[in-house]
Amino acid sequence: MNDTFDFDRYDRVRPIRWTGDALELLDQRRLPFHVEYVRCETSEDVFDAIRALTVRGAPAIGIAAAWGLVLAAREIKAEDGAAAVLALEPAIAHLNDARPTAVNLAWALARMRRVLASAGRDWREVLEREAGAIADEDLAANRHMGSLGAALIAPGSGVLTHCNTGSLATAGFGTALGVIRAGVAQQRISQVFAGETRPWLQGARLTAWELQQDGIAPILVADSAAAHLMKTGQVQWVIVGADRICANGDTANKIGTYQLAIAARHHGVNFMVAAPSSTVDMAMPDGDGIHIEERDAAELFHLGGVATAAEGIAAWNPVFDITPHGLIDAIVTERGVITQPDATAMQAAFGA
Ligand code: MRU
Repeated sequence: MNDTFDFDRYDRVRPIRWTGDALELLDQRRLPFHVEYVRCETSEDVFDAIRALTVRGAPAIGIAAAWGLVLAAREIKAEDGAAAVLALEPAIAHLNDARPTAVNLAWALARMRRVLASAGRDWREVLEREAGAIADEDLAANRHMGSLGAALIAPGSGVLTHCNTGSLATAGFGTALGVIRAGVAQQRISQVFAGETRPWLQGARLTAWELQQDGIAPILVADSAAAHLMKTGQVQWVIVGADRICANGDTANKIGTYQLAIAARHHGVNFMVAAPSSTVDMAMPDGDGIHIEERDAAELFHLGGVATAAEGIAAWNPVFDITPHGLIDAIVTERGVITQPDATAMQAAFGA
């Protein structure tokens, strides 16, 4: 098995670009039909972009928020880092509010706040360097995770993924999609199935497009086809990302992940969660405490501007769900693989 990876051959998309005076975000609302970057010049622009899903995916919103804080810093004066923290507290709290479920947002802002608090007169440079480091470390983590996760997959396997966990959702390469990229490159994965991921269609629009850029041809399936796909023996692994992994291994991810895990267990299909350690929240004991974001019900009424529901109908639109740790066979982070995750295994890997 060839375990080396040609990163230039795969992974061609970058959703976040720092220009030195602004943040450019690949507009994920418009992909794959329009490939264009939105320019954010203020932290409020970044807040709006995170909230509107111009940039999305747990690690990517953390990185964008870190750059958002760099932009907020342009609007204040402070002698040193401690004074800057005081002045930036409202901006930190505001960016933190942009989306509730993915812990990477709070994690990145807390990390920025920490380095700032101990910075001296050069605090602006310190802040900017830290945002760059968060992005660089995310890319490195994803590349390492790709190898670790792919090693679990037997040659010739079919895999199903959900949502978009690729370069578009991270600094690059992706989490679950990074594992899939590495698995395809090593000829362990013979077929990738992408669930369309209603209602925002991250799978149909983003994952399908992103894999096409690499020359990987996924097969798109309706979310409702997943159990039948498993029953017919076409997939050996479900591989997903995460927005928050709790201290007992319970995992929040895109709505629909939980039902995939249930179907996978029923059909003897393996279930893998791939995420950087920045997605692990050891302060959250289990999934019951996670705030599940609910978005506008209108997302269920229209598709590309065309009405798809009876007029006047009510709708409920939670956009994440919790997969209990007992349904997860492996959690893969850049720190290693945890099989059959539970509180003891998580504590051993991530405890203080
Ligand atoms: O609402 P989104 O598109 O931000 O949701 C994204 C997901 O649920 C991803 O699976 C998760 O953030 C992992 S991305 C590496």
